[in-house]
Amino acid sequence: MKTSLAIPVTKTQSSKLAETDFSNLVFGRTISDHMFVADYKNGEWTDLRIEPYGPLQLNPSNAALHYGQSIFEGLKAYKNEDGEVLIFRPDANWRRMNESAERMCMPSIPEEIFMEGMRQLIELDRAWVPSAKGSSLYIRPYMFATDDYIGVKPSDTYKFIIFTCPVGNYYSKPVSVKVETKFTRATEGGTGAAKTAGNYAASLYPALQAQKAGYDQLLWTDGKTHSNIEESGTMNVMFKINGTLITAPTNTGTILKGITRDSVIQLAKDWNEPIEERFLSVQELKEALESGTLEEAFGTGTAATIAHIQRIHINGKDYELPEKSGDAFSHRVLAELDGIKYGSKEDSHNWIMKF
Ligand code: COI
Repeated sequence: MKTSLAIPVTKTQSSKLAETDFSNLVFGRTISDHMFVADYKNGEWTDLRIEPYGPLQLNPSNAALHYGQSIFEGLKAYKNEDGEVLIFRPDANWRRMNESAERMCMPSIPEEIFMEGMRQLIELDRAWVPSAKGSSLYIRPYMFATDDYIGVKPSDTYKFIIFTCPVGNYYSKPVSVKVETKFTRATEGGTGAAKTAGNYAASLYPALQAQKAGYDQLLWTDGKTHSNIEESGTMNVMFKINGTLITAPTNTGTILKGITRDSVIQLAKDWNEPIEERFLSVQELKEALESGTLEEAFGTGTAATIAHIQRIHINGKDYELPEKSGDAFSHRVLAELDGIKYGSKEDSHNWIMKF
């Protein structure tokens, strides 16, 4: 979508570009020079602008800080060999952001504001899109309540901001995960499917306990019985057992509708790989680990794309996963996604926005 939406720009007087070491990027630490901002008041989005990335002024009674009306998205831009910028599936992020907004009683963002705000911001900060393989520009659109009011009700005013960060790999090695059977990420009727701040806040304590015990992340189970696998850390999760890929369905409202998850499913279907969207029970996972039928386990998410799982802890016991050969599904699908994102493979699903 290319429009003539006029967005005034105030350029930074002190670019951080020259002092940024693009060969040593820690995820989320380096922020590009500018941000796109829009304000919502009197029922409409106004005052669209691009300005230097910098501190915001908030009142201490800001509603989002107290009651968590705050949602976000994460997507990535890549650079191809001709220096063009390729953004992966931004329309899917825009749609999901509006689904999160509805669940959290927040206003929707018109497609033109989301797409043009992002495109014009990245056009200005084009030099921040890394070109090295494995690197990309992580794009963080988010919206939060701005009413100065501590009564509990949906805010009348909001801010929508997009900023970007050049990033390298999210995980530098395969991860170890622990099946969580005490704490819960999401329950039916809750906010698990929304990309909202509170879900991430609530996950910190259990994740920290797992990290103290020597695991990188959790395998979340359902909130009612803790017997079915739902997600892994901040990612969706997939298993390949006896030749069939299995991943949790998204119709319970407890699972984030991951865009990488959806892309992997579409590619698996293109390749006629057997795939089932159904819950995998912890018992089934344990049996597959013990009988040697678990061939692969991996997380899918924007930040990591594919995060290979190498060790799984279930009720007091650690299981090591077998070494994967180069033609394992998770390697092939990662190579295919990378190829599409960096422009070296055909984009047969029209996933790329290029400029
Ligand atoms: C993702 O990988 O999609 C995420 O949302 C990770 C982010 C919370 C850092």
